[in-house]
Amino acid sequence: MVKLDEQIQILDFPDLGDERGNLVVVEGGSAIPFEIKRIFYIYGSDDEVVRGMHANLRSEFVMINVSGTSRVKVDNGSETRIIELNRPRMGLYLKNMVWKEMYDFSPDSVLLVLSNEHYDPEEYIRSYEDYLKMVVK
Ligand code: TYD
Repeated sequence: MVKLDEQIQILDFPDLGDERGNLVVVEGGSAIPFEIKRIFYIYGSDDEVVRGMHANLRSEFVMINVSGTSRVKVDNGSETRIIELNRPRMGLYLKNMVWKEMYDFSPDSVLLVLSNEHYDPEEYIRSYEDYLKMVVK
């Protein structure tokens, strides 16, 4: 069974800022462990909303709360963990086939998500029951 520790990673991006303010650079293939093909961002969700609730056959993600905070529950069918995204220099890398739920969005939360794949609804697993059948042998 694959360990959750091998499927997720907390990334800490350097701050290249100076007296003018902060500057964080994330480049595909170096700070981000894949070449970036897709970017989307989620804002205007509140503390009652749960988003995600899916796993992906191929997509990997890096999630960054560039403003505000949120929580991500990650699950690989045998282990779960809750990660708070609470600073713009922090990234959460998720390999493919990790179940994720995003919630507890602060009013100012802007959750930026980078992915190695273009959007393809066919590679989304949206039933937790189906997901468990695929990962629990
Ligand atoms: P959804 O997967 O429910 O978002 P989340 O993972 O944040 O809960 O996506 C909402 C809608 O947006 C759904 O109709 C699919 C569409 N969508 C795209 O077209 N491209 C994308 O990259 C994403 C993430 C969603």
